[in-house]
Amino acid sequence: MSVDVKETVKRIYEEVKAKSLEDGDMLINALHAIQDHFNNFIPPEAAEELSELMNLPPSKIYEVLTFYTMFSTKPRGKYVIRVCQSTPCHVTGGREVIEALKETLGIDFGETTEDGLFTLEYSSCLGLCGVAPVMMINDMAYGNLTPERVKAIIEELKGGEKR
Ligand code: FES
Repeated sequence: MSVDVKETVKRIYEEVKAKSLEDGDMLINALHAIQDHFNNFIPPEAAEELSELMNLPPSKIYEVLTFYTMFSTKPRGKYVIRVCQSTPCHVTGGREVIEALKETLGIDFGETTEDGLFTLEYSSCLGLCGVAPVMMINDMAYGNLTPERVKAIIEELKGGEKR
């Protein structure tokens, strides 16, 4: 295991531990913090290190990692787009929004753009049906989407990267 990853995970773990959370929350919070640090994914060696630090079997860590769709053990883009595919979003223009996303990004679900900026994922209800159709980009929610708005959001993020 690389020394960098080991030390980074140890530092993150100590920071999360200082918040005195319950055991279950501690694991979820540590995984979130690790994922944020490693640009939207959890490297296997980071999961291993966390399992040692928390004195938990690796199987427990992987159980949590595979249960929650917001975690990924595969590298993802800087911006992870999770678009809702549940019925209320689907029937209020969600299908067109998804087509616009795929077309603008030039990728399908589960893929990352060549520049490493965007990963496209689908999601079930994001709890924001009142403003359907909805997508999340990292921690930010976007509602009342239209194909035009989706394209504008992506272009704006791309533009921000060039500044
Ligand atoms: Fe899409 Fe609820 S169905 S946010």
